[in-house]
Amino acid sequence: MNTQPTPLSRRRFVGAAGLVAGSMITRPLFGQNAASNKLNVALIGVWGRGLAHYEALSEENVVALCDINEAHFPDALKRFPGATTYIDWRKCLDHKGLDAVMICTPDHTHAFIANWALKRNLHVYCEKPLAITVDEARTVRATWETKKGKLATQVGMQRHAQPNFNRVKELIRDGAIGELKDAYAWGNRQIPKPGYFPEEGTPPPGFHYDLWLGPAPFHPYNPAYFSGKAGANCLSWNMFWDFGAGQIGDMGSHTMDLLWNAVDGSLPTSAEAKGEAYNSDVTPVNCESHFELPANDWRGPITVSWYQGGAMPRSPKPFIDLTKIGHGAMFKGTKGFLIADFDTRMILPFGDDADMTYYKSRKSDDLLPAVGVFQKQWFDACRDPSKKTACDFGYSADMIEMMLLGLVAYRVGKKIKYDGKTGTSPDTPEANAFMKKEYRDGWNIDG
Ligand SMILES: NC(=O)c1ccc[n+]([C@@H]2O[C@H](COP(=O)([O-])OP(=O)(O)OC[C@H]3O[C@@H](n4cnc5c(N)ncnc54)[C@H](O)[C@@H]3O)[C@@H](O)[C@H]2O)c1
Repeated sequence: MNTQPTPLSRRRFVGAAGLVAGSMITRPLFGQNAASNKLNVALIGVWGRGLAHYEALSEENVVALCDINEAHFPDALKRFPGATTYIDWRKCLDHKGLDAVMICTPDHTHAFIANWALKRNLHVYCEKPLAITVDEARTVRATWETKKGKLATQVGMQRHAQPNFNRVKELIRDGAIGELKDAYAWGNRQIPKPGYFPEEGTPPPGFHYDLWLGPAPFHPYNPAYFSGKAGANCLSWNMFWDFGAGQIGDMGSHTMDLLWNAVDGSLPTSAEAKGEAYNSDVTPVNCESHFELPANDWRGPITVSWYQGGAMPRSPKPFIDLTKIGHGAMFKGTKGFLIADFDTRMILPFGDDADMTYYKSRKSDDLLPAVGVFQKQWFDACRDPSKKTACDFGYSADMIEMMLLGLVAYRVGKKIKYDGKTGTSPDTPEANAFMKKEYRDGWNIDG
């Protein structure tokens, strides 16, 4: 007997699940196109990183394309003919019959679009980072909490699908380095900028600079913000406080994900950071931050550290040059170290137990299941939100909140305590001002 649910029975199930959960969602959560069972998706930010999702999106109905640069529409329409185009994402979210959105815009708009989309009962895939302030991460997570199990979410940390993520997690959980004590992640990308670019030229026709700024405080137009090639233009603007979160939002999202997944992280109880001198325009290149994380159900309390822009953890052995690993993670347990990049891992047992008889490796049947195609995992969960995604907004908001708290501690210049329940520092009130930022008039994250 075929036990696979048919598209129709899945839709009924999803609708029923929504009702049982007391959802305010009254329309079917997906599949407006009943015949094909495809999702109606809006792609917001159609060029750059958006291009990387075209192939996965071609399995669904792309019904809306949104970009502040109209020059990007002709090529996108060739791939997704018939889609309606929008220049303002707030209008795009109201596209009739929409099921889901993929957000590929610059970082300073992510939390806004994600939060608005969730509030409109849309499934959301958001490029990393989910937020650029502690407060934004908390706002999106709070909305997501009210939709959990009814809407599918995923943050674009697609490296998470690489098998090494599971293998590292298994080794840590199975005690290959004993009891976990400390974890470190680092990235060596260095993109120094002197400050916001001075006013230069005017936006080309069809380029809506005011909408590009969106909620960010005003900075004059300069083509240097848009000089990068497709998929790497983010490096032209992501070091600036008002447009990004520096290296934390950039490779930090991917690399901390390798660590966060392995340690089953949760919000820290303290943060401490140091780095190069503070610049009010630009996030630091060289910086390191350290956090205390509470115990969970399988380990005691641990410290987590993030190093960037040349700052590095100390290598456990002189013959191991950690700087040869551009973006990596290291874990210290009571019986050894585990060092990893995105694809590989090595164990360095120490002390009298270096024979590793204390460790029993898993049988192949017990290995963690593969994530598969990262976007597809989300599409599948949109069709059946009882399915989990690897980087949902709970997991991802917690991780980026911790990382962004590091920037708060960096600005305060001393170790701060952190209360994850309220999102405030009980011992350093001056830190609270750096957890959030001012937005331009007319922009409200809770719209
Ligand atoms: N997951 C990854 O591996 C990965 C790789 C590269 C970039 N990214 C992320 O993708 C995002 C975009 O990076 P990018 O290099 O493509 O940037 P980009 O500057 O090229 O912008 C991408 C697209 O968004 C459009 N856009 C800008 N503001 C918009 C708005 N308010 N509404 C609608 N469209 C808007 C741009 O015109 C462009 O077409 C960043 O957040 C970045 O962190 C992720």
